Amino acid sequence: MLLAAFSLGLALLPLLFFLRRWGWLLIGWNEFILQPIHNLLMGDSKEQRILRHVLQHAVAGDPQSVLETIDAYCSQKEWAMIVGNKKGQFLDAVVQEQQPSVLLELGAYCGYSAVRMARLLPPGARLLTIEINPDYAAITQQMLDFAGLQDRVTVVLGASQDIIPQLKKKYDVDTLDVVFLDHWKDRYLPDTLLLEKPVSGPTHTQGEHPDSTS
Ligand SMILES: C[S@@+](CC[C@H](N)C(=O)[O-])C[C@H]1O[C@@H](n2cnc3c(N)ncnc32)[C@H](O)[C@@H]1O
Repeated sequence: MLLAAFSLGLALLPLLFFLRRWGWLLIGWNEFILQPIHNLLMGDSKEQRILRHVLQHAVAGDPQSVLETIDAYCSQKEWAMIVGNKKGQFLDAVVQEQQPSVLLELGAYCGYSAVRMARLLPPGARLLTIEINPDYAAITQQMLDFAGLQDRVTVVLGASQDIIPQLKKKYDVDTLDVVFLDHWKDRYLPDTLLLEKPVSGPTHTQGEHPDSTS
């Protein structure tokens, strides 16, 4: 019996491998072939279509309605790289549990997760979301404006690795309570290390030695 199960598992392995690759092939086919043709024919981008759909179908000033409208569009019309409702519920739980004063997101895309997290922030708290792509950053800003969350969120245009070292000086960030890494995976480790790095620059008063204990 054990041997039969083992043999069956072994026999199915190439199929599993094929299906995994097939999934990636489908995403690649959609993203790099179908999508550019669709964009060319429509004269816009998928991200612009998502925003337009929200502006036309969601309720202004109602973040929940914005999320539901994006979820419906992305499950029925066009797939998009958003965190989505299922994983989004984990995000909700973290924000509700931690009640962060300052929250950082790396990778805003169209602003879905920013709307999701900002709607649960306690009063006076803020979210900074960093996005490298100017078109996506602009869409995120419009999404947040429409949801009525613009006062709680700062959309920062730039590469995470360039912005992180400026967080203290330029964005007045002393400590971060929650960080949501959702940009490109190869940046997760280097950006985490960057975030852990003490901010450089003189922290001692003039004339005082930095190692001085007195
Ligand atoms: C998976 S999407 C983010 C999805 C978004 N968090 C959501 O759930 O709605 C990844 C985003 O990270 C951005 N990105 C990739 N590398 C980045 C970097 N080094 N700095 C800032 N943004 C980056 C991409 O342009 C893309 O918009």
